[in-house]
Amino acid sequence: MTYYLKMMRDKLLRWYNKNKRDLPWRRRNGAYAVLVSEMMLQQTTVETVLRYYEPFMARFPDVRTLAAADEQEVLACWKGLGYYSRARHLHSIAKVVGEFGGVFPNTHEAWLSLPGVGPYMAGAVLSIAFGQAYPAVDGNVLRVISRVFALREDISRTAARKEVEARVGAMMPHKSAGDFTQALMELGALICRPASPDCTNCPWNEVCVALRDSIVDELPVRKPRIAPRIVPLWAALIKTEDAVLLHYRGNDTLLAKLWGLPVAQKQDGETAESLFNNKYGIALTDGEVVSRAVHVFTHQRWEMDVVSYRVENPIKLNASEWEWVSWESIENKPIPTAFMKILRVVRKQMAERIADE
Ligand code: ADE
Repeated sequence: MTYYLKMMRDKLLRWYNKNKRDLPWRRRNGAYAVLVSEMMLQQTTVETVLRYYEPFMARFPDVRTLAAADEQEVLACWKGLGYYSRARHLHSIAKVVGEFGGVFPNTHEAWLSLPGVGPYMAGAVLSIAFGQAYPAVDGNVLRVISRVFALREDISRTAARKEVEARVGAMMPHKSAGDFTQALMELGALICRPASPDCTNCPWNEVCVALRDSIVDELPVRKPRIAPRIVPLWAALIKTEDAVLLHYRGNDTLLAKLWGLPVAQKQDGETAESLFNNKYGIALTDGEVVSRAVHVFTHQRWEMDVVSYRVENPIKLNASEWEWVSWESIENKPIPTAFMKILRVVRKQMAERIADE
């Protein structure tokens, strides 16, 4: 390693040791604690993860407990974090590792073979939990490295990630690999922020090419993301005074294995009732459009008109994919935020109405 890279590495580690945040996963050791935190932190802010991490670790304290858990309960603990495939992958990994007596693998190759584990996750766990010098390049690291070396490649391209991995790999210490990984992320989160970076306090301000050339604001380069496709939907709110009818989303690609309101894509010339009947075989009448709810996913934007159907006696539906869920227990069921937003409002309105009476 060149003198220059060594100097950068040491400055960064010194900065990290002085400035790192006290985060709950930094107080724990072991692959399991690191894996859970990194799974939660992918695509989610530290602030949000702070509300979920300790409760999850209290409920599933080790990999064998998680492996033995019911998938619906794991998903319920993930409720509100979004990107549920991470929870499903985490559970699958626990099951695989459980079959090996709960012992996590310690090679890069073995980690990459686990469900949902890509170069980022493998590098994060191997460096942080096992002290091995594999880079973990997330959005923070892409930004920091693009700026410090003034790399102009579009960071959504694989070639850019590989270039950044190579640059990080060239700087990684064999001792304190985990600190180095976290130091880079921490620099991206605290100093080298997307907007208004704090270059004055940056440990790399003397070597940063983007700062020298006054192009920090222009980096990293990322081609604009494609806008999510608008999906107009009817959502059926089928309810009694005590409960609401929920549908199990089975292997639907979006929000699979979670519970939600029955939804049907709008079609010209078709009523909401006929669409629900065609899709689910439920006969509904006297619907009332009560609200509009919007939920944005990575590739889709759901624009839902919520149609309320008041039924006096719960309709009997035998299939395992339907359930009347009491208003009190909706919080404990794995229902994604797209639907919880609607359900919470309705529940509150019903409670207020009862209080007024
Ligand atoms: N983002 C991803 N991993 C992180 C970690 N270990 N600490 C802080 N932020 C992170």
